[in-house]
Amino acid sequence: MMLQIPGVLTPDEAAAMRAALRAADWVDGNVTAGRQSALAKQNRQLPEDSATAREQGGRVLDALGRAPLFVAAALPSKIYPPLFHLYGVGETFGDHIDNAIRFRAGSEFRLRSDLSATLFLNDPDEYDGGELIAEGSPPVKLPAGDLILYPATTVHRVTPVTRGERIASFFWIQSMIRDGAARALLLDLDRSVQELGARAGQDDPAIVRLTGVYHNLLRRWAEL
Ligand code: NI
Repeated sequence: MMLQIPGVLTPDEAAAMRAALRAADWVDGNVTAGRQSALAKQNRQLPEDSATAREQGGRVLDALGRAPLFVAAALPSKIYPPLFHLYGVGETFGDHIDNAIRFRAGSEFRLRSDLSATLFLNDPDEYDGGELIAEGSPPVKLPAGDLILYPATTVHRVTPVTRGERIASFFWIQSMIRDGAARALLLDLDRSVQELGARAGQDDPAIVRLTGVYHNLLRRWAEL
């Protein structure tokens, strides 16, 4: 399932991030690609250890923490420090599946990628092409500041950019709930309890019990 999360960054925050990124030095995108995906990948990326990537990545993480739908849907245990890529005219990323385990060079950090995320940083009318296409889902091209979350098990690609530049942040999430079907059930339960609670009042005894069911399922299934 692909889930759109609107407004992770405000238009002003996205514009400030774009300006910082445009001023940075970009390198060949194959620095993070696996062997198969290196053949398919033609784009540019900020080096992971660059000051700009670290600073702007921190801003993305802060914004994610303020996005309740992201937290409810992903139930993150670990988030890979956000990376940034840029596709100019003719650049593309053909069909691939993201690596299952991500390491950060020179650190103990490692993560099982359960979910992949792309945070769009410029608006769709600034470029042609550059759609994210995941197997079985319609093409995705979102407003600046919106995020798309999808299972990392999905074959996906970015279509060639034919005008302008596409700038985005991308990263992976290890979820406390490894099983996607269980994670979807928890999101459905969470949203339903919120909706019912808004109508019946959070202190309604049935809402209290249902909230307990949510937390007790999370306690039963979560791996930290
Ligand atoms: Ni990918």
